[in-house]
Amino acid sequence: MTDLALRLAGATIGYGDVAIVRDADLTVRRGEAVAVLGSNGSGKTTLSRGLLGLATVLGGTVEVLGAPVGRQREHGRIGYVPQRHTVSGAMPATVREVVGVGRLPRLGLFRRPGPRDRAAVAEAVDAVGLADRLEDPVAALSGGQQRRVLVARALAAEPELLVMDEPTAGVDAASQAALAAVLARVSAAGTTLLVVTHETGPLSGVLMRAVVVDSGRLTFDGPLAAVGPVAGADCHHPAGAAAPPVRGYRLDQPRPAPDAVRVRDGSR
Ligand SMILES: Nc1ncnc2c1ncn2[C@@H]1O[C@H](COP(=O)(O)OP(=O)(O)OP(=O)(O)O)[C@@H](O)[C@H]1O
Ligand SMILES: [Mg+2]
Repeated sequence: MTDLALRLAGATIGYGDVAIVRDADLTVRRGEAVAVLGSNGSGKTTLSRGLLGLATVLGGTVEVLGAPVGRQREHGRIGYVPQRHTVSGAMPATVREVVGVGRLPRLGLFRRPGPRDRAAVAEAVDAVGLADRLEDPVAALSGGQQRRVLVARALAAEPELLVMDEPTAGVDAASQAALAAVLARVSAAGTTLLVVTHETGPLSGVLMRAVVVDSGRLTFDGPLAAVGPVAGADCHHPAGAAAPPVRGYRLDQPRPAPDAVRVRDGSR
């Protein structure tokens, strides 16, 4: 068994035949906790979706947990918190049910959840501070709370690799701190973390290494501590990195109008 969680070599990832992330080299050992940083539109989500088989590998190599992407033998080894997600307003499911979906790959066909599954769901919901909302319809929760439900769903799967795309976006400070504590725990237990974020502050004790994506290229790979804040905001440039900081590096720019409607789902 390889000790690599991720291996990208000359990897080009995109949609259709359009390359977004280009010629990426990245090796992540099992148990590492890596932040993925970069400005809006730089390709962070595309990179993480490429690891899940949700964006197309157009060239090069992308291996996840020792196998080409999408060819993992068992399901449930990779947890994913997508950046944009509407927990549909029409969905009557409760918090317990949605988080329980995270256990499905572990159940196998026709198997009913057992005590271990129920405990994993309860622990995950507790970890994101929603224990008192377990039986509430997800649609009745706020945007930030729904985000935390999705984090719990990924945690409940107890994956070997946890890919989170802006898990703290729209989540209040107390919940971010709680999430940091949870991630520290799962990281200590050996789970590999890849976390796309604009807010490294709360997670800085957990994410030791940072990768910066800039216009589809990986321009920095090194200690998170070497990525300094710009103008005191939640933004980043690779201090001391080979590549100079690029203009427009602020990460918290207002999004253009077409994206503004997405605010409704609370995922930003
Ligand atoms: N489904 C898609 N089809 C085609 N192009 C896409 C698709 N999704 C994203 N893109 C393009 O890929 C580029 C990178 O987008 P991506 O979502 O990876 O950026 P990001 O770094 O995650 O940005 P943000 O910080 O805003 O989340 C953008 O130019 C975007 O328009
Ligand atoms: Mg993104």
